[in-house]
Amino acid sequence: AQSAKESLYIVSQYASAFFVKQLWETDEGKGIGLSYFKERGFREDILKKFEVGYSPDVWDAMTQSAVNAGHNLEFLEATGLSIKNEKGKIYDRFRGRVMFPIHGFTGRVIGFGGRTLKTDKNVPKYVNSPESEIYHKSNVLYGLFHAKKAIRDLDNCYLAEGYADVLSVHQAGIENVVASSGTSLTVEQIKLIGRFTQNVTILFDGDAAGIKASLRGLDMILEEGLNVKIVSFPDGHDPDSYMHHVGAGAFKTYLEQNRKDFILYKANVLLKDAGDDPIKRAGIIRDIVESIAKIPDPIKASVFIRECSSLLEIEERILLTELNKMRSAKS
Ligand code: CTP
Ligand code: MN
Ligand code: MN
Ligand code: MN
Ligand code: MN
Repeated sequence: AQSAKESLYIVSQYASAFFVKQLWETDEGKGIGLSYFKERGFREDILKKFEVGYSPDVWDAMTQSAVNAGHNLEFLEATGLSIKNEKGKIYDRFRGRVMFPIHGFTGRVIGFGGRTLKTDKNVPKYVNSPESEIYHKSNVLYGLFHAKKAIRDLDNCYLAEGYADVLSVHQAGIENVVASSGTSLTVEQIKLIGRFTQNVTILFDGDAAGIKASLRGLDMILEEGLNVKIVSFPDGHDPDSYMHHVGAGAFKTYLEQNRKDFILYKANVLLKDAGDDPIKRAGIIRDIVESIAKIPDPIKASVFIRECSSLLEIEERILLTELNKMRSAKS
């Protein structure tokens, strides 16, 4: 007999194909879902590559279709695609949303993110599949299946926040991109990238939350022994909106010309509100050295100490003393 896990993969694949069919072949899907994607500037080949779909705005359309096709409700519920309410009535988790299937790195569908088309602030923008036997969020990077070859070949992984970012960066002709989607970056996700490259370039949103996530993310990446660079975007933009705003060519150039190492990035972000205040500047220098102290390789760390010293005009010797204090405090 089939393992339960295998059955969860099968119903997930069924749902994915159902959502794709809805998007391309039904009036509701075409009129609402496909036109939404088109208005956002997505090309058809990108929509097909990522197998995006549409979930009809009906109580249980997907569940009914799956059950009629012979799939077991038990497995649909185990993936979170179908939900039973207190009265025992079954309904679809995803209704009236554009659907992003999440593929495991072998290419099988393991979960979904569904984006609302409503502008109503009370409706959650994204609904995601819950954890299941086949979907462990902290171990998954959205887009990895489509990116892994390019990540290896180009020896760099762009890391974005969301589904749309991954699609738009691909549309610009850049295929080595993944997103942490639906969770804040985890150590497991960084280790997963580490199987393909040692170089990560963060492309988080250009808002306060994105900056905060970048500062946290870069420390985690350094701690795992990987190299990290950051490209930031103008406030209010994310990689998706910026790509559509400036166009594919200019977007590519932007990524190449705005890649900063973490020292320069932190110095820029933190010095912005410090001005000339020497006490604040000292705090920032210490903050940067704290990031350097996370780097396991002492030779790499010393290279960054040198950079920090010349950038911030502090004697290297002083920074090294500080670094060693932090290192011994850690161990
Ligand atoms: N996210 C989520 N649940 C939410 C909001 C966000 O799971 N309520 C996740 C999604 O994976 C989303 C990512 O966090 O793609 C980034 O969030 P955000 O920047 O708010 O959304 P965008 O990806 O920019 O979505 P869009 O461009 O469609 O507005
Ligand atoms: Mn597929
Ligand atoms: Mn955001
Ligand atoms: Mn965003
Ligand atoms: Mn966006």
